[in-house]
Amino acid sequence: MDPQKWILSITLICILGVSVFMLSAMDSSSIRTEIIGQLNRVVPDGLGGWSAVLTTPTTATKSGENQKGKLLPVQVNLTTCLPTFGRPGKPVYCCPPRNMLDDPIVDFEFPDPTQTPIRVRRFAHRLDEESIAKYEKAVSIMRSLPYSDPRSFTRQANLHCQYCTGSFLQQHSNLPVRVHKTWIFFPWHRMYLYFHEKILGNLIGDENFAIPFWPWDLPEGMTLPAFYLNGSFINKQRDPTHFPPAVADLDFQLAAGGSTPEEQTDLNLALMYNQMVSGAKTAELFMGCAYKTGEGGDCFGPGTMERAPHNTIHKWVGSEFHTGREDMGVFYSAARDPSFYAHHSNIDRLWEVWRSTHPEMNDPEFLDSYMYFHDENSRLVRIRFRDVMDIDRLRYRYEDVENTWLAARPRPSVSPRLARREIRKREERLELPRSHFGPTGRVLDSTVTVRVVRPREVRSRTRREKEQLEEILVVEGIDVKSDDFVKFDVYVNVVKDTIMSPKYREFVGTFVDIPSGSSVGKKITLKLGISEALEDLEADQDRAIWVTLLPRTENCNKVIVDGLRVEFTRK
Ligand code: C2O
Repeated sequence: MDPQKWILSITLICILGVSVFMLSAMDSSSIRTEIIGQLNRVVPDGLGGWSAVLTTPTTATKSGENQKGKLLPVQVNLTTCLPTFGRPGKPVYCCPPRNMLDDPIVDFEFPDPTQTPIRVRRFAHRLDEESIAKYEKAVSIMRSLPYSDPRSFTRQANLHCQYCTGSFLQQHSNLPVRVHKTWIFFPWHRMYLYFHEKILGNLIGDENFAIPFWPWDLPEGMTLPAFYLNGSFINKQRDPTHFPPAVADLDFQLAAGGSTPEEQTDLNLALMYNQMVSGAKTAELFMGCAYKTGEGGDCFGPGTMERAPHNTIHKWVGSEFHTGREDMGVFYSAARDPSFYAHHSNIDRLWEVWRSTHPEMNDPEFLDSYMYFHDENSRLVRIRFRDVMDIDRLRYRYEDVENTWLAARPRPSVSPRLARREIRKREERLELPRSHFGPTGRVLDSTVTVRVVRPREVRSRTRREKEQLEEILVVEGIDVKSDDFVKFDVYVNVVKDTIMSPKYREFVGTFVDIPSGSSVGKKITLKLGISEALEDLEADQDRAIWVTLLPRTENCNKVIVDGLRVEFTRK
């Protein structure tokens, strides 16, 4: 650096030091938030050299492509942390109290298998008293740590806020890093839980400590685990009408379902079957769209699991007295609720269940994306997605359970033969709207049924091709506007609209969106795997299908959809 730059750097460091001291003495947290936000924005740019602390493995153009025009893996740029919006109209500031680059960064290392026991994550409802007490103690110590400590409970919760509201930008791009609605969802949350669990274990000196999982997908686990109502697990921002023994509604849509516990359980199992099996035959369907650096990789299309039960359980737990059903109901605040971690432990378990029968995701842009987390020794660790693809190497596993939803394949609500006859009759009299809604799109203010023509290739597949090709119903250009929670369901060949429910085979998926500040205004693509459903509905030879979009939340009356089409992809 030349002498002028040195002087500039030293002056800026002094200004920053004095400002931070003064700010820490201020009581108005909003002023502080505002100013620290500005400082973070300005100072690192002035110093210029900070970004060099990071070793960037690939050279890139500003647009996030490499020299050959190929999109790069997503990498976090730590130089700047920005104030964001937690949900529309809700400004938040979740950045760490000091610049992340003040600390050295270490690369992730696998735990030594000869020294590290395997931590077993257990069925939350079956935890013994002693394990609950240990877990409670760990959380209470975590809660007592000061905010300056990255292991403290608030800092841990804010970490989720940073990555879900877009506090950090990507390297080589001005777009925010987001961890929802794309393929990053599973591996990012796995990393988050991994470090969180290690910190908790370390705080009580227990190398075997593991976060339990809340198996809301299994009949015995469909209630909020009771211990979350006690001690350090208490969170006041929850809906008390959903405390045990209330059966979780995996298809939650704000209004009460009004079903008996048995009916709710059956509905949950059928929904799970759809989200894990029939609707999740490819990695993109299950995990979400391919998210890479820059505009060209800025996809928005969550996978089956993320939409439901992940999003729906978040909403179901959160308090009905807050606009976003905070804490759990919206991502900036969700991780303030200790039940968040058992919810995600189950999501992570289900990812393992799915991976055991599906081909591995192996795009280098996926595997080489990297993120940063503080470990149990408060070191900032850089970790790539490829590092978390084998949980044996991470030294944890899940207690074995029987995934009963595997056998919950739903049946058609009416005989497929009768349904198709009825549809043909109606087709002669009815002029259904076209499946593309034109330049202004279609507002979902009421139920919409369209006829979607299927490509010839899927109609004339041989048996072998059937095994290899998955038919996908695409709902394109979904603009949710700025509402907080939007849900609509998608059905195929419905002839009796009084019995529309995920319990029946006509249901092919649900769109569930929880927007955060950084995602508002961007159109979302919903992709639904329909091969198995069409077979069960005996519609897999038909030239066209009838698709019904059924609004489930009131604010669907602001949602605009561009159109629907069918495509196919190799499994
Ligand atoms: Cu990052 Cu369940 O949310």
